[in-house]
Amino acid sequence: MSAVGFVLPRIIYHGTGTLEKLKEISGQKAFIVTGGSSMKKSGVIKKTQDLLQKNKITSFVFEGVEPDPSIETVLKGVEAMKEFQPDIIIGLGGCSSIDAAKAMWVFYEYPETKLEDIIPPFSIQPLRQKAKFIAIPSTSGTGTEVTCVSVITDRKKGVKYPLVSYELTPDIAIVDGEICQSMPAHVTAHTGLDALAHSTEAYVSTLADCYTDPLARQSIDMIFKFLPTAQKEPNNLEARQAMHDASCLAGIAFTNALLGIIHAMAHQLGGMFSVPHGCANAILMPNAVRFNSKATSKYQDLAKLLGKQSAEEYAAEIEKLRAELQVPESIKAYGIAEADWNAKLDEITKNAMADACMGANPRTPTAEEVKRIYQYCYEGKQVDF
Ligand SMILES: [Fe+2]
Repeated sequence: MSAVGFVLPRIIYHGTGTLEKLKEISGQKAFIVTGGSSMKKSGVIKKTQDLLQKNKITSFVFEGVEPDPSIETVLKGVEAMKEFQPDIIIGLGGCSSIDAAKAMWVFYEYPETKLEDIIPPFSIQPLRQKAKFIAIPSTSGTGTEVTCVSVITDRKKGVKYPLVSYELTPDIAIVDGEICQSMPAHVTAHTGLDALAHSTEAYVSTLADCYTDPLARQSIDMIFKFLPTAQKEPNNLEARQAMHDASCLAGIAFTNALLGIIHAMAHQLGGMFSVPHGCANAILMPNAVRFNSKATSKYQDLAKLLGKQSAEEYAAEIEKLRAELQVPESIKAYGIAEADWNAKLDEITKNAMADACMGANPRTPTAEEVKRIYQYCYEGKQVDF
C-alpha cells in the first residue's frame, strides 16, 4: 500500500535569513502565536513584527503558550483572535506554539466546533476561509511547519490529542536556522533525535513510496552529519540550518508516509512518565529497528548511508549517536523507578497497541511483543525477537 496524495505547504522558504521573506507576504492583520520568552529575548518577535509592518500588515502577539499546549490556552487564543480578526495566523517558536496556533485556527474558522468534534482523524472542515497559516519553527524536530498534525493536551483528563488533518498543513513554512540559535543543548539533542525517528519510521512505513523515501534518506544523512555539531556549537549556522532542513524533510516524509511503533510506544512514555518526546523516541528507536528488521529489509539502505550494511549496524549507529548526545540509553537510566514502571507496564502496552501510529508499522506486533520491547528498553537490553 502507498499513500495516494502528497501534501505540502504552498511555499517553504528555507535557509538562513529567510525570515526576511515575511516582508513579501500579503494581508492586513497577522496574529502571532508564540511561547515563553526566548523568541522575545532573541529579538525574533520584534523582527517579525517589523518585517510585517514593511508591507503594512499590523500584528498582535499572543504569547505564553506552554510546552504541551492545553485546550484552555487554545481557547484563550481563540478569544483574542476573534477580537483581532486576523487574515494571517503565524505560529512562531517551538512546536507547542505552532501546534497551539493550528488548533486556534480551527476554532477561529469554526467557532461552533468543539474539541471532541475534531479528534477523529481527518474530520476538520476546510480551513482558509478567514485566514492563511504561516509556521516559523525555532526548534528542529517535529516538522510541524509542514505536517498535518497538532498535538493538544487535555490536562484534566491527562490525555494528549493528536489532531490530524491535511487542512492543518500550513500554507507557508519559513525554515530559517538563524532562529534556532537560542535552542538549549538538550532540546537540540531531543528534537534532532525526534526528527531521526520521523525519517526512520517514514522510510519503513507501509505507506512509504518513491516520493517520501528520498526525503527520509536525505534527512537521515544530514542528521548523522550535523546533529552533534548543532548541539556542541549552538551558533554554528551551517549545522543549525542543516538540522532545520533535515527536520523539515523528515516532516514532509512522515506527514505523507506516517509513522510506526517508535511513536506509538513513545507517546505512552510521554503521557504516563513525562519523558520528553525526542528522548523517548531515542531510547526506543534501536530496539524498534531490531524488531522491525524481521519484516523489512529497508534498514539496510539506511545503514549504507552511514557506510554500514545491516539493520543491526544501523541500530548500533543510532546508539552511538544517542550516547554522543548524552541522551539516556534506557528507561531505567532516564530515571523511572522500577515499582512505578512495573505498575504501569500493562497500561502503556495497551495504549501503545491502540495508538494510531501503530497502523503503518511494517511489522504488526502482539501486545506481548510490545510489552517485551518496553521491558528490554527499560533494562537497556537489545531486542532479539
Ligand atoms: Fe515525533
